[in-house]
Amino acid sequence: MSMFDLSGKVAIVTGGSRGIGLGIAQALSEAGAAIVVAATHADQSADAVQRLRDAGATAASVPTNVADPDAALALVDEAVRLFGGVDILVNNAGINIRKRPEDYTVEEWHQVLSVNLDGPFFCSRAAYPAMKARGGGKIINIASLMSIFANEKAAAYGAAKGGLVQLTKALAVAWAADGIHANAILPGWIDTDLTAGARQQLPGLDEAVRARTPEGRWGTPQDLGGAAVFLASPASDFVTGTTLLVDGGFAAD
Ligand code: NAI
Repeated sequence: MSMFDLSGKVAIVTGGSRGIGLGIAQALSEAGAAIVVAATHADQSADAVQRLRDAGATAASVPTNVADPDAALALVDEAVRLFGGVDILVNNAGINIRKRPEDYTVEEWHQVLSVNLDGPFFCSRAAYPAMKARGGGKIINIASLMSIFANEKAAAYGAAKGGLVQLTKALAVAWAADGIHANAILPGWIDTDLTAGARQQLPGLDEAVRARTPEGRWGTPQDLGGAAVFLASPASDFVTGTTLLVDGGFAAD
């Protein structure tokens, strides 16, 4: 059996309806996992599930707002009801509001923190008993290079992603004895709906990303698939509490 085989495993992918989440869902399903797409837009999620099924996957949509702790509990209950358990949780749902720090309203600040930081905590906490019942699990948090670098219009986002990296380490330490591994992926600049907004709001971003990234291009959602399968599989059973950059060399330059 391949050390990357995910046959019989059940994976929840928050924000799995599009972009990086869908790319990761596709890769995990190709490795054999059943997929629960947990995102806010039911229509997009249904389309994503159809795409996964057309490719031969076992998949279902459970529309979820990860910022709601009760919704996180209901998500895990539904995944267990549908597929019998939860082995893999990818905390990928995320948003950004690009403003200078002095321009954030209190509501905007909390909105970014609640989806990007509270959400992964609520979902991880909800998944813990189900993973423990299976004898272990894999939590993969999608953080960002903004947990390392700063941007004048990403105070809330950077604070949330920096917090997410530290949350990852705390979960890894707390739950190692339960066989649960927690790691973070730090994507570089990936071409998705999220960064399409950034390209509009930040003139020159497209050229700057190409120039600064040693690979000379934007990443694609598919570029995240290999790292996610690695961190979801037995291949990473002695890897926990760490971060894996998938950035085309951006941070090394
Ligand atoms: P996207 O905007 O294309 O997709 C975001 C997904 O999150 C969608 O499925 C959306 O429905 C879902 N979502 C948003 N709020 C939600 C909520 N409250 N509850 C449940 N689902 C919710 O974004 P993209 O680019 O695919 O980003 C995915 C993750 O990767 C985010 O956490 C983002 O911060 C992170 N990331 C993205 C980078 C990029 O260059 N695109 C770079 C570094 C990190």
